[in-house]
Amino acid sequence: MFSSILSATVLGMDAYLVRVEVDICDGLPQFSMVGDLAPEVREAADRVRTALRNTGISFPPKKVTINLSPAHIRKEGTRFDLPIAAGLLVALGVVPRDYAENIMMVGEIGLNGAVRPVSGVLQTVMLARQMKSKFCIIPRDNRGEGASLPGILVVGIESLKELLECLLSPSYIEAHTEALHLWEPECASYSVDFCEVNGQHGARRAAEIAAAGMHNFLMIGSPGSGKTMIAQRMPTILPALTMEESLEISKVYSACGLLVGKEGLAKVRPFRAPHHTISANALAGGGKKILPGEISLATRGVLFLDELPEFSRNVLEVLRQPMEEGWVTISRVNGKYSFPAHFQMIAAMNPCRCGFYPDRQRCSCLPGEVRRYIHKISWPLLDRMDLCTEVSRVEYTDLLKKTENESSARIRERVEAAHRIQKERYVGCDWQFNARLPSAAIKRFCPLNPKEEQLMETAFEKMQLSARAYHRIIRVARTIADLDKEEQIRESHLLEAIGYRQVDQKYWEE
Ligand SMILES: Nc1ncnc2c1ncn2[C@@H]1O[C@H](COP(=O)(O)OP(=O)(O)O)[C@@H](O)[C@H]1O
Ligand SMILES: [Mg+2]
Ligand SMILES: [Zn+2]
Repeated sequence: MFSSILSATVLGMDAYLVRVEVDICDGLPQFSMVGDLAPEVREAADRVRTALRNTGISFPPKKVTINLSPAHIRKEGTRFDLPIAAGLLVALGVVPRDYAENIMMVGEIGLNGAVRPVSGVLQTVMLARQMKSKFCIIPRDNRGEGASLPGILVVGIESLKELLECLLSPSYIEAHTEALHLWEPECASYSVDFCEVNGQHGARRAAEIAAAGMHNFLMIGSPGSGKTMIAQRMPTILPALTMEESLEISKVYSACGLLVGKEGLAKVRPFRAPHHTISANALAGGGKKILPGEISLATRGVLFLDELPEFSRNVLEVLRQPMEEGWVTISRVNGKYSFPAHFQMIAAMNPCRCGFYPDRQRCSCLPGEVRRYIHKISWPLLDRMDLCTEVSRVEYTDLLKKTENESSARIRERVEAAHRIQKERYVGCDWQFNARLPSAAIKRFCPLNPKEEQLMETAFEKMQLSARAYHRIIRVARTIADLDKEEQIRESHLLEAIGYRQVDQKYWEE
């Protein structure tokens, strides 16, 4: 007998339909599997047969052929165990064909018949919904992500025995569908808050501007001054996630299998802080089995690069294109894979090797060493940091003070207002935020009055700015003006923006 079960494979961010066809006929007993399969997919034969036997279903000595179609897509992973088992059950005549063949299924099966979680369940359920399949059967540990979409019924199962019950009766399926974990933006809550950061008014202000215009942001300061603390709190002052943003984040996490055991879709913006020994593949994505990297896991949130000069240059080089485009594309012989990378980059570094410059009492670095330290970062990358600020040691009085600091929620209100202004201004454009304003559009959106024009001319000559640096200053000034709810960029906005540019230049030329 023949059967055909719906399943899916995940390539890059999305799921693609795979039909698992099973044919059982008389002939020399053998078990063959075809359809461009990775070794672990082939091994399903042994896992599934053993699991069926351990569930009490005897396997007749017949000729079994399994085909995973379409043949031109490479199938990887253990997600096809469940549809293969279902296909065998139908082809053996153990369960009826009619409704089994309209259910999308994925899941790994252990030898004892236990159903184990797999990656990419969210996109699989999305595909099933798009195909108007009524049900999806998935591993129970994946039920959080699986049951997060309205319009499709999902059953989370733990064993092959449960699969058997599902396939024997539609009423069992209906009685066991998962409750929906619908996405609600208001349940977002972070475990950290800006009210925990004492003092550091300069850095707090720079962080707010960075969030308001989605600018990249570099902090230079001695160890223990609170750089990591501030970076960790950046997601808390960004606007609440929208449903689309949450889906984008969740798809990346699902593809990596990071939603297993979690409840529903992402509720908070990600914060990723990869160590400086990270490889280019782990940062940008790729590897043998193509998976999203840290920059995609940070999408719609913050990528924090601590100890920036310690990262290898060619690793940081892979950041450049995604930083401009918001996407990372990985090319392979069998195709191109794109992952989102709409992250905000926050970086931190010690001012020098010993960490105490410009404190002449404590800094033991020789002349020229300070300069050499920051020169470990490539200029093109440093030039892409819109804001740069020095974070000095916290004052003792600040550390002990009793008055309440401003909370993330209060700062977020101002950031949200600035985002609204930008969305209105850039309606119909390809970009939403000042940080992404193309140089060619700066004249149109950031016209300067003669006095401000004069100021920028002087700064350009005195600071020997590159055209890129010049444009960055204007973009940051635009954001500062937006925080002030001012239409026209004023001298004070430009002066503050220039200040954030002078810091890195100072260290670079020290
Ligand atoms: N401004 C600050 N307000 C309150 N606590 C701080 C501040 N700066 C540093 N700390 C304390 O010192 C610890 C180390 O700070 P951290 O952010 O890791 O410093 P850095 O990254 O600059 O080396 C923090 O966990 C916090 O307890
Ligand atoms: Mg730190
Ligand atoms: Zn030093």
